[in-house]
Amino acid sequence: MGSFFIFKVNMNNKGPIGIFDSGIGGTSIWKEVHSLLPWEDTLYLADSKYAPYGTRSKSEIIALSRKNTEFLIHAGCKIIIVACNTATTNAIQELRNSYDIPIIGIEPAIKPAALRTLNKSIGILATRGTLSSDLFHKTSKTFTKDIEVVEVVGEGLVTLIEQGYIDSEEIIELLNTYMQPMINARIDYLVLGCTHYPYLIPILKKILPQNVTIIDSGEAVAKQTKAILNANNLLVNVSRVPSLRFYTNAEIAPLKFLLQDYSDAIEISYKDF
Ligand code: DGL
Repeated sequence: MGSFFIFKVNMNNKGPIGIFDSGIGGTSIWKEVHSLLPWEDTLYLADSKYAPYGTRSKSEIIALSRKNTEFLIHAGCKIIIVACNTATTNAIQELRNSYDIPIIGIEPAIKPAALRTLNKSIGILATRGTLSSDLFHKTSKTFTKDIEVVEVVGEGLVTLIEQGYIDSEEIIELLNTYMQPMINARIDYLVLGCTHYPYLIPILKKILPQNVTIIDSGEAVAKQTKAILNANNLLVNVSRVPSLRFYTNAEIAPLKFLLQDYSDAIEISYKDF
């Protein structure tokens, strides 16, 4: 779909921060954002009905990302966080070309891993959609010139996490298989290139040698969000109780499970979007 017009948005600091992901994984980003910006209202969309995005075509990912972005804009959001590597690497340019609102994306943290690796070997676990995107290739090429990069598609992981099987035998088995080529290549950094994967860190730590550092981009996204809100005079900087809403277009239970520590402060509901 081409972009022929820019969708104008009236922003003020009263709107919530809008966040979307193909499902519940982007809550790993929401947690970082809420921790850094505790007074801000947030509205999170879990597009679980259409997950996983990672096996879809670029044009499908763009169409779904537009649908979510428009929902959040109509709900009065002042900034959009694309809390999904797959949607960012495939659709962020189209979104930025179409909507006149700050849009923050998330990409695999290749740069810090490449700068810090002592073994000159890093691993990247991400979806097929992310690993095959032009944006990912471009970033990877820029930062990993003399470094071995082991890219592995986390086939099946998003679907299992969406179904609530985070601690399952099936996930452990898949991760054992996916980590093998990385262990063989003596990686010392593992980049999690999907916002669902931080929930797998306890299992990954058991599988990987102790010298492997696991990194994701959650904190960086939260800091970037704060900086952009500040630069646009959109930051809420008075202490207040925020409205923290979550909408899912599928089962509520897996989302509730991941957010159980926040149950007193948040509102989760089903919405058909
Ligand atoms: N959380 C999404 C990401 O960061 C998962 C993508 C998918 O649905 O496959 O890529």
